[in-house]
Amino acid sequence: MHRDVERILFSEEEIRNAVVRIGKQITGDYKGKKPVVIGILKGSFVFMSDLIRETELDCELDFMIAKSYGNAAVSSGIVNIVKDIDMDIAGRDVIVVEDILDTARTLAAVKVHLLEKKPASVKICALLDKVTAVKASDLKADYKGFDIGNEFVVGYGLDYAERYRDLKYIGVLKREIYEH
Ligand code: PRP
Repeated sequence: MHRDVERILFSEEEIRNAVVRIGKQITGDYKGKKPVVIGILKGSFVFMSDLIRETELDCELDFMIAKSYGNAAVSSGIVNIVKDIDMDIAGRDVIVVEDILDTARTLAAVKVHLLEKKPASVKICALLDKVTAVKASDLKADYKGFDIGNEFVVGYGLDYAERYRDLKYIGVLKREIYEH
């Protein structure tokens, strides 16, 4: 275990089981369809790369970068689309993949942004849902890996100051690392 990690919240195996479960769900729900899977960078990249290999669909991929500013507890915080998708999603079934739903502000803004492009449908797939967070929108994940509490989690794509994204598990970061 990494020295900055206090404890492992979800092991490699637990994550793998969740990814397989969600992959099967999506495969069943989108049978005969060719969804566009959109990853929100950077956090989603590890989850998305595993997830698409657990779905048996003829999917296409794209990516977005969204940055949110302001107090996380305030719903009026602004979400800036730094990088938009390249594909035309009009009439397409879209699955947005995210590592974590915290205040849900980022995904709510992303969904509004994508709906303007007139897709046939937009579903949300989040590996983690911080259920204790003050939510800035009523957006819910259609596909979800795990609920978590108010813990600072890193690994499997999730970072603190751009570090720890490469860990194979999801762990709780030691307080002393982010509290100075
Ligand atoms: C994280 C995460 C989500 C967002 C969730 O991204 O990947 O995009 O925050 O928070 P919210 O539900 O309160 O909006 P971050 O801005 O840390 O960027 P990153 O994905 O590059 O790590």
